[in-house]
Amino acid sequence: MCGIVGILGTAPVAERLIEALKRLEYRGYDSAGLATLEGDRLERRRVGGRLKDLERRLRDAPLFGYTGIGHTRWATHGKPTEANAHPHATDHVAVAHNGIIENFGELRGELEQQGARFTSETDTEVVAHLVGSCLAKGYSPQDAVRVSLSKLRGTAALALVFKGHNNLMIGAAKGAPLAIGAGAGEMYLGSDAVALAPFTDNITYLEDGDWAVLTREKTVIYDAKGTVVYRNAIKSVASFRVDKSNYRHFMAKEVHEQPEAVGRTLAPCVDTAAACVILPKMPFDFSDVSHISIIGCGSSSYAGYIAKYWLERLARMPVEIDVASEFRYRQPPLRKGDVAIFVSQSGETADTLAALRYAKSQGLHTVSIVNVPTSTIARESETALHTLAGPEISVASTKSFGCQLMILAVLAIGAGKARRKLSESDETALVHELLQIPRLIAAALAVEPRIEELAREIVHSRNVLYLGRGASYPVALEGALKLKEIAYIPAEAYAAGELKHGPIALIDESVPVVIIAPYDRNFEKTISNMHEVAARAGKIILITDAKGAAEANLKSLATIVMPEMDGAFTPMVYDVPLQLLAYHVAVVKGTDLDRPRNLAKSVTVE
Ligand code: G6P
Repeated sequence: MCGIVGILGTAPVAERLIEALKRLEYRGYDSAGLATLEGDRLERRRVGGRLKDLERRLRDAPLFGYTGIGHTRWATHGKPTEANAHPHATDHVAVAHNGIIENFGELRGELEQQGARFTSETDTEVVAHLVGSCLAKGYSPQDAVRVSLSKLRGTAALALVFKGHNNLMIGAAKGAPLAIGAGAGEMYLGSDAVALAPFTDNITYLEDGDWAVLTREKTVIYDAKGTVVYRNAIKSVASFRVDKSNYRHFMAKEVHEQPEAVGRTLAPCVDTAAACVILPKMPFDFSDVSHISIIGCGSSSYAGYIAKYWLERLARMPVEIDVASEFRYRQPPLRKGDVAIFVSQSGETADTLAALRYAKSQGLHTVSIVNVPTSTIARESETALHTLAGPEISVASTKSFGCQLMILAVLAIGAGKARRKLSESDETALVHELLQIPRLIAAALAVEPRIEELAREIVHSRNVLYLGRGASYPVALEGALKLKEIAYIPAEAYAAGELKHGPIALIDESVPVVIIAPYDRNFEKTISNMHEVAARAGKIILITDAKGAAEANLKSLATIVMPEMDGAFTPMVYDVPLQLLAYHVAVVKGTDLDRPRNLAKSVTVE
């Protein structure tokens, strides 16, 4: 969601700004633009649309400046038009922004009274006018930014350049992340290190409230109080090739990378010889913890929901799960010394970050499960556990979800052991189960040809129901979310036992009902629900194993057979056919499935 880049270069920067913005495309955007300083002119090129549209515009009207900023915008205030695209500018300053200025209405009113003329519907344009009005009063660019920042409420990662100041760029990170890169005689700003990877691996992350004054020679960082501060530079390992290998879409590649990604994530967490889990030293002992909260958004919250079943069963630990946007405002009473776990692929989701800060303020121990180790959530949590999924480009989470589950499974076993709810032999058996998961996911991927056929059969459905019991219920939620996100088919998931309390009214011969029913202790109950669906002529898609398929003994539209496995960790395997189903339905429909409409990979605003 909204990407920012900036370059103080030693050669024209437009082409490299585009290259860096392409590396942020995965965040989701719907318009884009650049601004560069050319002698005493400030030039902009903006488009409502994609970076390829911006490149076309630049071929017709090139930019030659050595200092510039660029932006990909995910619309919040105002449509994704050229007029609303960033950078926004006055005669003297151009600004790219990620976040939401909450008091923009009030500020806009004041600025308009002073004579400012607004040309967009965005909240960001007030920043350009605020800074511009300070410059007009004779403030230096630094003072103009300092004063303006103090007036902004909300979240704002900012990059600014100033007409007539070819060796100056200012960046700010107020509630949204911004990284500074240092190169040979050049300086860079970026929403993350990934954007800057082609230019430098020398990265400094601004802390919340920091702002920085960059020239080609040096960077001076100020904290929110205006005191000069030192922030450590790190050597980033964010460099990666953004390609699809031989796959048609990033999502297909990422789904198929799961056996390897999940295995890679598991490797540092187990001692295979001793068959036990290895967890990093944490500043608490699970045996002293009375309650765990697990918080996330989207698929990450469903990973947490699955873990609730595991932690309750294996560690007999009371677990509350919540979506971050509710948790943060609900402000639930929490007990000091308890634990909150934050699950996030990007590590930048605004609501999850706010929830983390709330939990910290209540004296909770905070553990994050993140895929981007340098992310704000990783940095701000007490313990960060890393999924090793590798970069995930497609907006819909797939391999990162699988890897989150793997870390959560290890945590559940670790907690069960610490609380003496699992014996040594229980642990050994569970670790052996985990070690089988990469192989089982690979086996689950083998059902793809059947799923491809099935996708053609259900592509015109008006809606699809997903049912599951126990830990298969959140798997159903995740499956339905995927179908909505990328295939745009309304899909609902229910705990199978809830069927009679409403969703059964939806069922007729036109409604596919996906039933997730591994042959476990819930199997018989779920199959009873399947009979209820069959009695109403619903089109059953049963996902089970060979034993389940033999026992279900009912006509289905399709029975997708998963490999045999022991009970505890089926969600990691049973999610795979649901990812494939959503993918193939989207392919048949021809949606832009790696970048589904209106969605962003990294949701850095509320
Ligand atoms: C967005 C993405 C989802 C993701 C969710 C949470 O909605 O489109 O795929 O599950 O954010 O993101 P996070 O990075 O915190 O896991």
